[in-house]
Parts: sequence; structure tokens; C-alpha cells
Amino acid sequence: MFKKSSMPLIVGAIICFVLGVSILVSCVVVPTTDSNSESDSEQITPEEQEEHRNACEGESENNENADPTVPSAPQVQPGSEESPSASEPEQPEQPVEPEEKPYVSSKDDPLLVLANVDNPLPEDFEVGELEKVQGKYEMSVRAASFAKDMIAAAKEDGITLQLCSAYRARSLQQTLFDNKYDSYISKGWTHDDAYAKTATIIAIPGTSEHQTGLCMDVVTPSYQVLDAGYAETDAAKWLAENAWEFGFILRYPKDKQDITKIIFEPWHYRFVGIENAKLIKDSGLCLEEYLDTLE
Ligand code: DAL
Ligand code: ZN
Repeated sequence: MFKKSSMPLIVGAIICFVLGVSILVSCVVVPTTDSNSESDSEQITPEEQEEHRNACEGESENNENADPTVPSAPQVQPGSEESPSASEPEQPEQPVEPEEKPYVSSKDDPLLVLANVDNPLPEDFEVGELEKVQGKYEMSVRAASFAKDMIAAAKEDGITLQLCSAYRARSLQQTLFDNKYDSYISKGWTHDDAYAKTATIIAIPGTSEHQTGLCMDVVTPSYQVLDAGYAETDAAKWLAENAWEFGFILRYPKDKQDITKIIFEPWHYRFVGIENAKLIKDSGLCLEEYLDTLE
């Protein structure tokens, strides 16, 4: 069918055909495989690419493809103080909770000034600024607002707290002391007995904390007598339970008379500040004992 002389041409034509088909197949098959592996990026529009980059901003410090118009985070030079160690990958900073320091009281706290028979106030003691708390009764400005808050809080609980004494000048303390002393003398007591007995009820002038403006005597309209029976009233019970929250303590407890040298006075509340008041109430100590625990 073919001449012998045309065989080389036919073989050459077949080889060319086979080579042509091979080249054609490789051109079609290879791009098809690549398009499958990058199908996601091919489907992201330019707008979507921009959105994705902004979402990652700040998280790609060494992104070479970053848009040069967007300022990148400053690069830290290796070896500089801010360079994170290669072996210690940088951890995200955790917010540091402020450490709650326990309250540390001190004997020098002016709110803990001690006035008793063994610790008279200085002759030149100055009470400082006073503020009305209720009616004519005044206290040191350091305590007055706390006293008023306490009276208001009691009112909300249906308890009426009524002041019957607060700041006393030394001259008033002297008058009260003399009146009580005279009452015993008029009953036939000796001077020594009358004086000693009076000193357990009305502090000797110059040793009363009423002179500091930091205490008050509190009764209630239905019970205005200053005796131990007052402790059974709702007002006294409310004070015993809640006064510490306003910085006040029961200054002369029943079981501390040998230390305070003063009779049980469920009406007499002394301002020492809320932290001290809580510590004193929780400890069951009286002020003298509490001060002995402090430096
Ligand atoms: N009743 C208290 C002790 C005073 O007179 O200060
Ligand atoms: Zn008092």
C-alpha cells in the first residue's frame, strides 16, 4: 500500500503525531490539578482578601505580603531588652489583680486614742472640728458622718436611736462628776467611797473619751434610763450587732469591767474606724486589750 521509499516519512509523521498529542495532554491535565489545590483562593474576591487581612492585623508581624500603607507593629531587634527570648515564647500579658493588703492597725492611729483612768488626755488636748449629729449633740468630724449614717440605717430597720450625750468639754465632765459624787455624799458615803464609786460611772475629768468627740451615749425613746436594763431593748441589740459596720464599738462591755474600770454601759459607743471596729468585735477584746496587741 505504501511505497518502501515513503516509509521514513510515514514513521516521522507518526512520531510527530504522538509527540503532539503528548504535549497537548500535558498542557490540559497539569493546570487542572493545580486549580483544585487553590480553589479557595481563586474564589476569594479582592474585597474579601482585604477584609481577611484587616481581621488579622496585629497578629502577623512578619507578614511580607502586608499592605505597605498599613503601619505594622514595631519590630524588636534581637538582643534588645524587649526582645523575647527564643526559648521563651512571648506570652500574652495577663491582667494583674491588685493585691488586697490586710489592714494593719497601729497604736499610733489617732482614732484609737486611749482615755481611761490610767491614761489621762494631755492637759492641752484639742478636740478639733466638731459637727452636729443629732439635736444639740456634736461629735468630732472624723466620726459624725458615720454616726449619722448609723442612725439612718437603724431607722430603716425600724429602730430609733436617740443621743443623750456626745462631745463633752472637760468642764461639763467635771460638772457631771461632781453631781454624781455629791449624790453619794448626800447618802452618807465617805469621800473615798463616793469618789471611787463615781469614777466607775462618770470618768474622772481629763480621762473621759467624751472629751475626744469620738463617742456618744445612745438610747431610744421608749427607754432613756442609763442602766443595764437598756441592754435588753431592740435599740441596744441593734447597736451591739451593727455598730461595727459604722466604725463604732461597745466601749464598756459587761465582762471587761476589771480592765476598763467602768461599769457595763450598753449605751456608750466609741468610734475607732470600721477596720478596727470589725477586728475588735470579732476578737471579743475591749479597746485596752486590743491596743495591747498592736505595735
Ligand atoms: N461614762 C463614761 C465612762 C464617761 O464618763 O466617760
Ligand atoms: Zn458615754
